[in-house]
Amino acid sequence: GSDTATAGRLSGKRVLVTAGPTFEDIDPVRFIGNRSSGKMGFALAAAARRHGAEVTLVAGPVALPTPVGVQRIDVRSAQQMHDAVMAAIDAQDLFIAAAAVADYAPVHTSSHKLKKSEASRSVELVRTRDILADVAARESRPFLLGFAAETDEVAAYARGKLQAKGLDLIAANRVGVAGSGFEADENSIELIWADGERRFGPAPKTRLAQELLDEVVEHMEKRSR
Ligand code: CTP
Ligand code: CA
Repeated sequence: GSDTATAGRLSGKRVLVTAGPTFEDIDPVRFIGNRSSGKMGFALAAAARRHGAEVTLVAGPVALPTPVGVQRIDVRSAQQMHDAVMAAIDAQDLFIAAAAVADYAPVHTSSHKLKKSEASRSVELVRTRDILADVAARESRPFLLGFAAETDEVAAYARGKLQAKGLDLIAANRVGVAGSGFEADENSIELIWADGERRFGPAPKTRLAQELLDEVVEHMEKRSR
């Protein structure tokens, strides 16, 4: 619908968004990170605010301005993002997990810069907690939109994650090809749910976010009817 027709569709609703990468520190100068820009999550937070929602944005390390009217919580690591989400999760109506959360973090973070004393070295890593899966497992949970960034068999892997994590919707996008996904301004997305799917884009991430959010709100409204 038009902007006026959809304005305020989320008024009185609370929306929590994760966005950006996480950085897992190895020592004071080195970390493990990823190529997420945070643009999609920030655009979704802005779109939810424009629809009248009270929006909390948990942001990994990104250089992006805070969308107008959005409450932003900056974090660095997957554990910090987990803590911030769990502290804010009560009474949320919609959780959008757009962050590219590190799957592994160093077992030890050195407080001193590591020196190149050895010819080779390895960094022992341990799995991080899955924020989205932990939210999904809660007794009372918000409507859930997950993301799946994949290089191969995009829709099939995404549908697997939708089921495995018990999500309402998952937005799948192809990464690792020029002009889409991470670090790109344009993107295309396949929105997938239990018995359907819809394609969005290619379009600029801001427009894609608006169209995607409109569809998400449709699904939320259908669910609550
Ligand atoms: N996610 C999360 N916390 C994690 C890992 C992932 O909240 N520790 C969320 C992401 O924000 C995304 C969804 O789970 O919404 C899927 O993330 P993705 O990396 O595509 O899938 P994984 O479940 O981590 O599996 P894999 O990386 O092995 O494909
Ligand atoms: Ca992952």
